Amino acid sequence: MDPVANPYRPGAGRRPPLLAGREDVLSAFDVVRRRVETTGEGDRGWVLNGLRGVGKTVLLNELMSRVNSTGWIVAKVEAGAAGPLLVGLNQALTRSMRTATGRHPVPRLRRLLSVFKAFSLKVDPSGAVSLGVDVDPLHGVADSGNLSADLAGLFEVLGQTARDLAIGVLILVDELQEASSDEMAAVNVAVHELGQSGSPLPVVFVGAGLPSLPAQLADATSYAERLYDYRPVGLLDEAGSRDALVVPARDFAVGWEPGALSAALETARGYPYFLQAIGKHVWDNAKHDPIDADDVEVGLLAAREEVDDGLYRSRWERATPAQRDLMRAFARLGGEAPTSVSDIARAMGKSRTSDISVARNELIKKGLVFAPERGLLAFTVPGMHDFVERQP
Ligand SMILES: Nc1ncnc2c1ncn2[C@@H]1O[C@H](COP(=O)(O)OP(=O)(O)OP(=O)(O)O)[C@@H](O)[C@H]1O
Ligand SMILES: [Mg+2]
Repeated sequence: MDPVANPYRPGAGRRPPLLAGREDVLSAFDVVRRRVETTGEGDRGWVLNGLRGVGKTVLLNELMSRVNSTGWIVAKVEAGAAGPLLVGLNQALTRSMRTATGRHPVPRLRRLLSVFKAFSLKVDPSGAVSLGVDVDPLHGVADSGNLSADLAGLFEVLGQTARDLAIGVLILVDELQEASSDEMAAVNVAVHELGQSGSPLPVVFVGAGLPSLPAQLADATSYAERLYDYRPVGLLDEAGSRDALVVPARDFAVGWEPGALSAALETARGYPYFLQAIGKHVWDNAKHDPIDADDVEVGLLAAREEVDDGLYRSRWERATPAQRDLMRAFARLGGEAPTSVSDIARAMGKSRTSDISVARNELIKKGLVFAPERGLLAFTVPGMHDFVERQP
């Protein structure tokens, strides 16, 4: 098949040709969006949590694109990427403010712009913010230097302005598990305050991160457990996986033979990144329409190689010999499932769990495993156990 036309998109944050199997979360978001636009009321914050490569970033991007055309104020930040969270938020909001001044009457934005200017100067004194219109900073709302107070103050003014303009505000934070606990606490406080009036302000907060995120947020402030709507983003089910492979090809009038499709689905096991890699390599290796079992056989080898190199090998190579021993024991014992640390220690011939705690903690720090619950361990990437077991 013509590689130039290849519709599949393996990678990080690359928009798939079809966002398969995520109808529930998307329609729930549409309800929130419509409520904001008709009643001026926001919703609880959302937290999307899931393993690496399951599609959290592309979901955030989709939420963003659903409100972008409607004039909302939107900011998307990646925690840990551009230094402190507020610096990233400041940059993203600056862009959004500039867009807003071109779309909405400036007098109604003036208070927000002034508060934001003061916030901006506090967060990044060296950066001269240019908002597209001239405003003086308004001190005392979001520029105290106290993370929580400033974020809460900023969210409040954003919400009031948005309500006045009959729009909403969408704040997206990707990789939220990378934020410091002070930053998480500040996010919790700001989201908490938003919901406290009789009519919650129309600021919609969506954070995304690894499965450890809910526990991290709860460690930052205890009420976080009830603060957010937690929406796990998991592997795709059978129908979603099928759609992810079949629909993009069908748009090019290309079919998949049933046996070929089954083989591809069996290998991908619902993992979105793997589905895209398989789709891509099978397409590139396919001789003609419909895609048949031979095409899949060749394509799967190439896809497996891409995923091994792009995902698993770099992680494996970051681990020391002792850490690899732990991963081996864990892969053999638990596979994809969370496994008890004491069982792993026993399988490694150690008498105490504490004998492997250094390796365990280092692996967590390196982002290879996480603790889904106290005393348990799981891989952050689907299929990692299989790769580990294939290592000599
Ligand atoms: N619903 C879906 N249907 C089909 N393909 C998808 C879907 N979601 C994600 N993908 C594909 O999976 C890959 C990974 O997506 P994405 O980068 O959003 O995952 P992630 O959860 O953000 O991963 P990470 O935790 O590493 O940041 C991309 O190639 C994307 O195109
Ligand atoms: Mg991501």
